[in-house]
Amino acid sequence: MIDKLKELEKEARSKIEAASDLDQLKEIKVGVLGKKGALTALLRSLGNVAPEERPIIGQKANALREELELTIERKEQSLRDALKAGQWEKERIDVTLPGRPVQIGQKHPLTMIMEEIKEIFIGLGFQVVHGPDIESEYYNFEALNIPAEHPARDMQDSFYISSGFLLRTHTSPVQIRTMEKLAPKLPVRIIAPGKVYRRDDDATHSPMFHQVEGLAIDTDISFADLKGTLLLFVREMFGHGQKIRLRPSFFPFTEPSAEVDILCIMCCGEGCRVCSYTGWLEILGAGMVHPRVLEGSGYNPREVTGFAFGMGVERIAMLKYGIGDLRLFFSNDLRFLKQFD
Ligand code: FA5
Ligand code: MG
Repeated sequence: MIDKLKELEKEARSKIEAASDLDQLKEIKVGVLGKKGALTALLRSLGNVAPEERPIIGQKANALREELELTIERKEQSLRDALKAGQWEKERIDVTLPGRPVQIGQKHPLTMIMEEIKEIFIGLGFQVVHGPDIESEYYNFEALNIPAEHPARDMQDSFYISSGFLLRTHTSPVQIRTMEKLAPKLPVRIIAPGKVYRRDDDATHSPMFHQVEGLAIDTDISFADLKGTLLLFVREMFGHGQKIRLRPSFFPFTEPSAEVDILCIMCCGEGCRVCSYTGWLEILGAGMVHPRVLEGSGYNPREVTGFAFGMGVERIAMLKYGIGDLRLFFSNDLRFLKQFD
């Protein structure tokens, strides 16, 4: 019987020692100390032992039970410790590692040009206002004195949403919306930046592009004010030696009208391929607000005058950065965009 106990002890100890997780250990515990366990079975067979040996063996068996319980408990604790240490190891952070560089975005070149344009005019006392991208024919054409048979009204040139409504083809409708809102208050000095849409698509024409509209109305505004304002803008934008040239032009909503050129950025007026050997580049359309437009929007053309202009933002960005194809601005190519950091 004593030998059996010793054998049981040896076996149990080596099993406990070898247990690699808590489940295994529990199984071993049940297998040795449980109701149907090996040690319990051994104690049950105590009846077969000579009566004088019983107390001794009983004592030994109980001592062994206690010892094994203790050993299992200790093993359990060490398994738990190891488990915890493993978790710590997994969560360990090397605080001395250099950080991963964060990819910081940057402003789109058109956004930067747009902000620069706004800054210049805000400095001149203009206020920034906005109009809707979807416009009615009334604001986009009619109120701007653009007659029904004008080619710009054609479906071939404009994106219509439904009858009577279209994606605005220029920012000039904001002139009308502003005058309607402010009339008869003076002075009016606003710029209206935003997206415009046309059925165009080539290296210098995009179906969606940006314009900045300008409008100034007061009792004594002359063409000289328009010219001075634009000259100042161009010099702020392109450098203080810049020159402008006004060419007679036509817009139904201004009279007289002009197209404004700047000295070619590439050749400074010498003549090159970019400016088609003219030395000049067109950047905007402008003129004195047509009396019919003033009248229709709530101002008395016998009392007030005004000037207006509309510039293509992409065109200005192309000139400023020397870019030959406007579609690059919309291709989302990071190799292109990263050059404007
Ligand atoms: C106009 O849109 C007039 N509303 C401008 C104006 C406002 C005149 C106020 C008088 C008073 P125009 O269609 O020429 O005019 O366009 C103005 C500018 O937008 C052009 O000089 C050009 O720089 C730019 N532009 C025109 N079409 C495109 C296009 N498809 N893609 C990129 N830029 C364009
Ligand atoms: Mg034009």
